Formats: sequence, structure tokens, C-alpha cells
Amino acid sequence: MAKLVINELKKEGTIAPEIYGQFSEHLGRCIYEGLYVGEDSDIPNVNGMRTDVVEALKEIEVPVLRWPGGCFADEYHWKDGIGDKAKRKKMINTHWGGVVEDNSFGTHEFFELVRQLGCKTYINGNMGSGTVQEMSEWVEYMTFNGVSPMADLRKENGREEPWKVDYFGVGNENWGCGGNMTPEFYGNMYRRYQTYVRNYDPKNPIAKVCCGANVDDYHWTKGVMETCYDHTPEQFHGFMDFISLHYYVHPEGWEIKGSATDFDEEVWYKTLYKALYIETLINRHSAIIDQYDPEKKVGLSVDEWGTWFTCEPGTNPGFLYQQNTVRDALVAGLSLNIFNKHCDRVKMACIAQMVNVLQAMILTDGEKMIKTPTYHVFHMYRHHQGAELLESSLTGVDEIGEGEWKVPELNESVSMKDGIITITLNNLSATDAKELDIQLAEDKTFEVVEANVVTNDDMHAHNTFDAPEVVKEEKFTAYKVNGNNISVKLPACSVVEIRVK
Ligand code: AHR
Repeated sequence: MAKLVINELKKEGTIAPEIYGQFSEHLGRCIYEGLYVGEDSDIPNVNGMRTDVVEALKEIEVPVLRWPGGCFADEYHWKDGIGDKAKRKKMINTHWGGVVEDNSFGTHEFFELVRQLGCKTYINGNMGSGTVQEMSEWVEYMTFNGVSPMADLRKENGREEPWKVDYFGVGNENWGCGGNMTPEFYGNMYRRYQTYVRNYDPKNPIAKVCCGANVDDYHWTKGVMETCYDHTPEQFHGFMDFISLHYYVHPEGWEIKGSATDFDEEVWYKTLYKALYIETLINRHSAIIDQYDPEKKVGLSVDEWGTWFTCEPGTNPGFLYQQNTVRDALVAGLSLNIFNKHCDRVKMACIAQMVNVLQAMILTDGEKMIKTPTYHVFHMYRHHQGAELLESSLTGVDEIGEGEWKVPELNESVSMKDGIITITLNNLSATDAKELDIQLAEDKTFEVVEANVVTNDDMHAHNTFDAPEVVKEEKFTAYKVNGNNISVKLPACSVVEIRVK
């Protein structure tokens, strides 16, 4: 019998809300159509942001939004996206689909979007093709509250007060699309560029994000840390607040990727096996970072993660538009459980991407909108944001799967906030329900405050514009409480949340 032992008296650290962060790039229909339709659109909007999408995103309590890329960031020149929209430069989005980027969504529009969402801001600067001056002036434009050329320009463009930049990425994937740099070269460039990311408001310092590795490129992490670290710990912190990690799950590898909706059981397990690999990556990159930052002040920011399948047939391959099934719900559930359990080092994570791209929360088609299974997982898991991680462990869990793609049948994390314990559980089996015995430490009778599930008997189940609620969050009732013991029966292919006090 599988057993989950929870010690609610042992807190293991705070789960940063930013682990539940999102990423929005100028890619395909993420920004344009997905989030921003312009003030003159027939689609209901507030200052150009579509109301249905913003309202849905508010329900998952987005803590932080990363923008404008991605690979796009290292080709983005922010001055093209300010001022009179009719006069803004048009360009070709060479990375993503070769479409015209008219720059109608720029800095002011981004801050309007995050105002409506009520979330923190993560701006990714251009190191790959931009100058130090350009990056430094962007920071001045956004955050300086005084008389200066950039602050004056911002005011001319209608914004008197500075905005708050919470996180600033100094380049993106500079080992690849962001300039094909070596770790030592990037490390030196990082040292230089970050110097000019000024803190104009000392009460609201900008946290700087250094470009970290792709997947298992430990050589990159080591080289960048080594190059950047010759400061005292006091100087180092504030110089580098985060280092990133990017990891995508391609069931059939980078070249083939694999269909989002048409897969067999072997590929189901292969996908989950590959998703679980994020824990190995976190452990190994953290071990390198520990050598320079044993106090764990530099956060690991997994600011691109999720599934990356072959795009939907008939769509622009450069738009990375894919469907989202119960399998994506499991990938989200187990990845977030892993991030929670590593909250001592993982302090931010941004799933790629928020709308219409890769493992999205929301898909749109003209004026229609659907919430994906991944959306519903983020909705359930929002209770972990800012909560205290509790000590918990699973025993008696079977290994399941096919061939080399064996995975533990269950996965979990547990946290506490405002006296309520949130337990999130995943049953990775494509076919079998699983009984689980949950044991809490305190000798008292616990009460279930709420319990929800995202599941479907069919591992391919997904929502469409014609059938938008095939997979959704539903009440979960397959549990029995007996004092400090709760027995549950988790359906196959399920992500479950049980909250007790
Ligand atoms: O999310 C899509 C792309 O994946 C991003 O632009 C890039 O950073 C990564 O390679």
C-alpha cells in the first residue's frame, strides 16, 4: 500500500509565489490575438488587452510575467515599441514565423497588461544584438523618477510615474539564439551589462537574472559562475540574484518532438519520464551553484519549461501552437511539485508560454477562448504560492511504465498557509487508479476544506473550441478521513489537490 507521511510540524522553506510564473513572447499568437487585440478590436478589451483572457488569468493568480522573449528578446529594440503607434517601426519577426511585427505592443502596453493582471514584472533585456547603452536606457526609461533624457521621453509618451521592474534578464539563451557565446565570454559580458542595470529606486531594487544553461549543459553553469564570481559574497549578491535554466520536454527528441494529442502508452510514460528529469537537472546545476553560493542567495529561475510538441497540423510551424491534454496536466503537476520541493534554490519558474504557444494556459480562436488542462492545474496549485513547504515523503510506490521509461506511480508536494495544508498528488498511471494512505503527524481529527481533481479516463482528452470543458477542475470525493489519517483513491491520469486543517 502506498503511503504519504506528512510532518506538518516541520517547515522546509517558503515556496516563492514566482514559481508559478508565466512567460509571454512575441511569438505566434501569444501577444497579438492571445493577449492584445488593440483598442479598436471587436473582441471586448480594456486598453487593448482582451477581457476574457485577462479575467481567466486573474483566477490563476499569475505572480510574475516574463516578456518580451525568449529568442525575440535578443533582437528586440525597445525604442521601436514606444510613442505614436502609427509611426512605430515595422519589422520581420525572423525567429518566429517571418511575420510582420508592428511593435504596437511595447513597453507601455506590457505595463498595462501586468497592471490588469496584478502581477510582478520580469523584463528580458537584449544583450545578443543590443548595446549596453540601449539596455541601460531602457532601465532608465522604465524606472527613473526624475529629470533625465529617458524619464522625460517616458513622460512625453504619456507616463509620468516610473514603473516597477521586479526582475531583469541580462540576455536570453546567450549560448544559442542570444549570440552563440561561450560561458566565459557571456560571463564577462554579464558583468559589464549588469553594471548598468541601475537601481534608481533603492527601495525597489531590480533583481538581475543571469543567463543559465540549456538542459544539462553543466559546463555553461560552471563557466558562467566561475567568471562572474570573484567578489565577496556581499558584493556577489546584488550582482547576480538569479541564474536561469531552460528545459523543454520533447517526447521524441528535439528533431521529431511528437504529436500533442496522438500518442500511445509508451509515449505517455516517455513524456512523464522526461518531465521528471527536471529534478536531476535542478540537483546537478544546484550542486555547481552551491560551490559559489552555499547560502543559496542566488535563485534558480526555471524561466522556460514545459512540453514542446510538433505544432498543430495546418498551423504556421514558427508559431509553436499546440494542443494540451491530460498528459500536459500531469507534466505541469509533477514539475510544480518538484519546484515546490526545491524551493530552497528554485525561486522562480515561468512556464512557456501563457497563451497560444507551447504548453499554454489558454488557447484562442478569434473571439473564442478555452482553458487548457494545464490552466486548471495552475488554478488548483495556486494555494502553494507563498506557502511553507512541509516535510513529506512517499513510500510503497510502484514503478510503472514501459521499457526504459519507468516512472514512480505517484508524485506529491505539501505546503501550509494560513493554517491550511495543501496536498497535491499526481497519479502517473495511464490506466490504473491508485489507493494512497495519507498520515499526518498531529494527533487530532483533520477536516477536508476542499478537494479537487483534473483527470479523464482517456489520456488524450483535451478541450476544443466546440467542447471546451472535457477536462476541467472538478470536486474530488474519493477520500475518507479517520482522525489524522486520510485514505484516498486517485484515478488514473489524475492531478488531485486536497486541502485540510
Ligand atoms: O519558448 C520558445 C523559445 O524557446 C524561446 O524563444 C527560447 O528562449 C527557447 O529556445
